[in-house]
Amino acid sequence: MDFDRLLRNWQNLATTDPLWAILSDEGKQGGRWNLDEFFRSGEGFINYIGEALHQRRIDVARGSALDFGCGYGRLTQALTRHFAKVVGVDAAEAMVLAARKHNRFGERVAYVYNPVPDLAVFPSASFDFVLTVLVLQHMRADFQQGYLREFLRVLRPGGVLFVQIPTVPTTPVLDSISRVDEVAGEACIEIHGQSQASVEALFLAAGGELLYAEADTWAGVEWGSMHYCVLRQP
Ligand SMILES: C[S@@+](CC[C@H](N)C(=O)[O-])C[C@H]1O[C@@H](n2cnc3c(N)ncnc32)[C@H](O)[C@@H]1O
Repeated sequence: MDFDRLLRNWQNLATTDPLWAILSDEGKQGGRWNLDEFFRSGEGFINYIGEALHQRRIDVARGSALDFGCGYGRLTQALTRHFAKVVGVDAAEAMVLAARKHNRFGERVAYVYNPVPDLAVFPSASFDFVLTVLVLQHMRADFQQGYLREFLRVLRPGGVLFVQIPTVPTTPVLDSISRVDEVAGEACIEIHGQSQASVEALFLAAGGELLYAEADTWAGVEWGSMHYCVLRQP
């Protein structure tokens, strides 16, 4: 899917069944997510990341965090427990508008609509922490790579990136793109992966040092998935 189609697709998903498009849990399609439960899932997830970093003695400065592909702000709001200022950025205007509507943390949280394949809207070295999960998996590898470089650029030296990307399909019948579901007319949810070796080589070339990488199940049963924790080299 090219970039314009990607934008149209997420705007479409964001105006039809947004919570299910964000978290496609069984039984939640068709507006069946309870909003409190949805936001609680974000708090649980951020606690999990906080604990994982703590166990590995990875210290992150508590100034500012960026949540890339923030959707409704499920993870963005939960990040306020750990950071003084949090910015959520999304390429679907309807997601950003909904995130602003549901914001419970006033000016400590800002949401930015950014329908372009880069993060030029943010100066270099402006965040202590960059988080992105369940986002890069929905775009082509060339877009994934461009954003991965951008994450390292917008991190301060010594800042930390936490990013999830699928690797390869778990079954050989799937190609490098998997259309998981067709919903709401034109809209669909695509999954794209990238090898661990390619992701790690990119981090190195962009000034990152891999702190750890771990397999997860976050892209569903049909895809292998990894998350990576990367230090922006001082
Ligand atoms: C599956 S949702 C995940 C939302 C959020 N990360 C969460 O876990 O609650 C994917 C989000 O990424 C956004 N997105 C897709 N492509 C994007 C891009 N190129 N730049 C920024 N956001 C994008 C979509 O609009 C959508 O809100």
